[in-house]
Amino acid sequence: MKIAVLGASTTKFGELWDQSPRVLAKKAVFEAISKSGLGTRDIEAIFVGNMLSGILGGQENLGPLFADELGIFCPAFKIEGACASGGLAAHNAINSILGGQYKTVAVLGIEKMTDHKPEEVASGLMAAGADEEREAGATFVSLYALMARAHMEAYGTTEREMAAVSVKNHFHASLNERAQFNKLVSLEQVLSSPKIADPLKLMDCSPVSDGASAIVISHDRFTGKVIDPVWIVASSVATDTLALSQREDLTSLRAVRLAAENAYKAAGVSPSDVDVAEVHDCFSIAEIIACEDLGFFGRGKAAREIANGKTKLGKGRPVINPSGGLKACGHPVGATGVKQIVEIATQLRGEADERQVKKAKIGLTHNVGGSGAIAVIHILRS
Ligand code: COA
Repeated sequence: MKIAVLGASTTKFGELWDQSPRVLAKKAVFEAISKSGLGTRDIEAIFVGNMLSGILGGQENLGPLFADELGIFCPAFKIEGACASGGLAAHNAINSILGGQYKTVAVLGIEKMTDHKPEEVASGLMAAGADEEREAGATFVSLYALMARAHMEAYGTTEREMAAVSVKNHFHASLNERAQFNKLVSLEQVLSSPKIADPLKLMDCSPVSDGASAIVISHDRFTGKVIDPVWIVASSVATDTLALSQREDLTSLRAVRLAAENAYKAAGVSPSDVDVAEVHDCFSIAEIIACEDLGFFGRGKAAREIANGKTKLGKGRPVINPSGGLKACGHPVGATGVKQIVEIATQLRGEADERQVKKAKIGLTHNVGGSGAIAVIHILRS
């Protein structure tokens, strides 16, 4: 399988109160098309990744809404898969090309969250949880706090090691002008930030964000106008139980392990070949578990390796979350999976400026929905 990323773009993430979803979508898609060297008439379909537009915005019909706004009247689809909506939209777009339906399509990931009250956002996000979790008043912070406790008990992972994930990702985001937070934070600031769901504190959490990201992809016979495209060489999805309580192990996500195994096989690479990865660090513990499930470090070893700087830009390999990750670049949920591909494509093209991972040739994206009910992995090569 070989799909070319011809253009990739993201808006700034953050509290974008003065920009509507229509404005954000236009910025991201038109910039991606412009970078691709193609025109709007070359786009044969649009795949939109979004989770909350119906719950928070009262608008579900995003395919035609954005086709209309962009002035590209082609088949258009909204794909939903909780926080993995963006990655799933990309997966479906790739399949539509591989299946021979379209040559060139645009994938848009978009979410507008900050116009709404925090309690509305928290309950909207829990639409991705199981009934019994919602009825018990759980939030995603509290579900990941349970995973953090289990990891701490199984492997001796400490709150300080989890905090080190946030410190690293804020450092990376300080080099990314499109990130929500450009500020550096210290271990002490993370550790002394208010507790949200013990042991997770405010600074262990990804924020509530607005933003849009887009890619233009095509099959390998339609790359004429683009010199040196970046290639998507694997796209894999796996699912697991919706409820965390039904899992055998809280320290690892089976959906990620399955999707990763299939993706590595399809791409013909192993974890040690990956130079750079964007992983789904919705909470600091999630990055630690991701690094283990993706095979970058042994089980129970990732927290120490991350705290020792092994995944920090300029210090080790693979570099994890050079964009700042969900933690510091921001997490407009439906946009995240597409932004991860934008960042990896930018890195593999050598266009990431100050946050460039030197000689990056192989990159991976890891996008998770719910507490691990669905996972989408993409592997890219230059
Ligand atoms: N990291 C760093 N700073 C953050 C932050 C975060 N995650 N969230 C908010 N802040 C900052 C704000 O910018 C603000 O700073 P300021 O006072 O300098 O302007 C301050 O902290 C307070 O912000 P506020 O919006 O009042 O925070 P909150 O208490 O309403 O929300 C969380 C904090 C952690 C509860 C919220 O960000 C959250 O729910 N995150 C998780 C989202 C989620 O579950 N996503 C799905 C994952 S599966």
